[in-house]
Amino acid sequence: MTNDRHNPIEISKDEFKKIGHQLVDSIADFIDTIREKRVTTGESPKQLQSIIGTSSLPENGRPVDELLSTAAELLFNHSLFNGHPKFLGYITSSAAPLGALADLLAAAVNPNVGANILSPIATEIEKQTIRWLAEFIGVSPNYGGILVSGGNMANFTAFLAARTAKAPENIKEDGISNDKTPLAIYCSKTTHTWIEKAAVLFGFGTKSIRWIPTDATNKMDNQVLEKTIRTDLENSFKPIMVIGTAGDVSTGVVDDLRGIAAVCKRYDLWFHIDGAYGIPAAVVPEQKILFAGMEEADSIALDPHKWLYSPLEAGCTLVKDPNHLIETYSSHPVYYNFSNDEPLTQNYYEYGFQNSRGFRALKVWLTLQQVGRSGYIKMINEDIQLSGLFFELAKKHPELEAITQNLSITTLRYVPLDYLPGSQENETYLNSLNEALLNELQHGGEVFLSNALVKEKYCLRGCIVNFRTSKKDIEEIITIIVREGKKMHQKLQQNPAS
Ligand SMILES: Cc1ncc(COP(=O)(O)O)c(C=O)c1O
Repeated sequence: MTNDRHNPIEISKDEFKKIGHQLVDSIADFIDTIREKRVTTGESPKQLQSIIGTSSLPENGRPVDELLSTAAELLFNHSLFNGHPKFLGYITSSAAPLGALADLLAAAVNPNVGANILSPIATEIEKQTIRWLAEFIGVSPNYGGILVSGGNMANFTAFLAARTAKAPENIKEDGISNDKTPLAIYCSKTTHTWIEKAAVLFGFGTKSIRWIPTDATNKMDNQVLEKTIRTDLENSFKPIMVIGTAGDVSTGVVDDLRGIAAVCKRYDLWFHIDGAYGIPAAVVPEQKILFAGMEEADSIALDPHKWLYSPLEAGCTLVKDPNHLIETYSSHPVYYNFSNDEPLTQNYYEYGFQNSRGFRALKVWLTLQQVGRSGYIKMINEDIQLSGLFFELAKKHPELEAITQNLSITTLRYVPLDYLPGSQENETYLNSLNEALLNELQHGGEVFLSNALVKEKYCLRGCIVNFRTSKKDIEEIITIIVREGKKMHQKLQQNPAS
């Protein structure tokens, strides 16, 4: 490489190779030994701040080898590892190692996947990834869409397209405030909090959300849904869309999607599915039935960074008629020479919120090929089986109460032998006990679970989107919960204020 401009940011070929190889070696060791580490160190922000210090912005540069080895040391020794086999918290998966290499390659070439001309091959790869994701879950490969940063953004992207399609025609020009007919959107009580952000962001206001109750199986009650729509119509509201959830964030329940599709058809509403977590399970033949009706959705959110094990960030919006995205997001400023006259040209800035966009498709595209459909069926199915095992072991244990199990989410709670559930007083105590237990477990570093409130019961919640978790891990997690539950119960008995 010859370059007569010397600058402080370029790295010579030899140095890049040297520090790059060192970094890759240390990442390989990190992944290889992740099982032996604690899930988290549980250090406080204060402790961590004291490690990185509080110095002000450096005036002069420092050598990259020193910087990279310090950063690697910091991350390997002071992180929470969602790739640890005993991490079952929230919905964050273990990440495909290939994804780390893909991100390195993507950042090195650095295509801007906002416009075809700026990212010729990357755009084609993203298009193929979108087609494969549609095929993966089992809807028509004619769905189009876009990769985004995650579930919230995937749902927002679809939400605004629904608004363009179903709100009064001139909404893009006039805005929502000039419309005298208030808009209404429908979703079950279990819908993830993105819906509130969307209602605020896109001018509907949170009062436009109709939180439909769930039935005995925790699915949206479609009869109440239809009744609510009718009442709104009688009262001059304008229903816009219904959101079905395919794997709710707390307990993994999949709504009756076929029933929702029928309601949407009857009232000419946009049918959106939030499948951010659960919809990849449709690839497993035995689970497919749960998702019947999804092929009728106008839009679907799914997250490769959840159950397809992609490193963060990777979400996806699929839309049955992708023109709805273009109608919502496209604009043609004079400073963009991004003609799309060539057949098949696609400029992703016209499909979503971002203009400049990174190449997040690469990690998803490569991992889909590394693993193949059959590999995903195996891994997703094993996660579901392990979740079932977690539930069964809890059910058999005299000090645990198994509460729910759907897809790969299990909820349970610790119940001391002398505390039968039922009475209000005992229930209040069990909620406090399990909340304290969860806090202890989350900071202890042996296992990481999260929580769910199921019918007023505070539960421990394990979500297995983790290809490293084994049967042995689940058995050990049961032992840890019981051991720590006992200790916490004793502590609370001795000192109720704690
Ligand atoms: C059903 C569902 N929708 C949306 C989201 C939001 O996803 P993200 O955190 O990637 O924005 C989640 C997150 O857990 C989820 O479970």
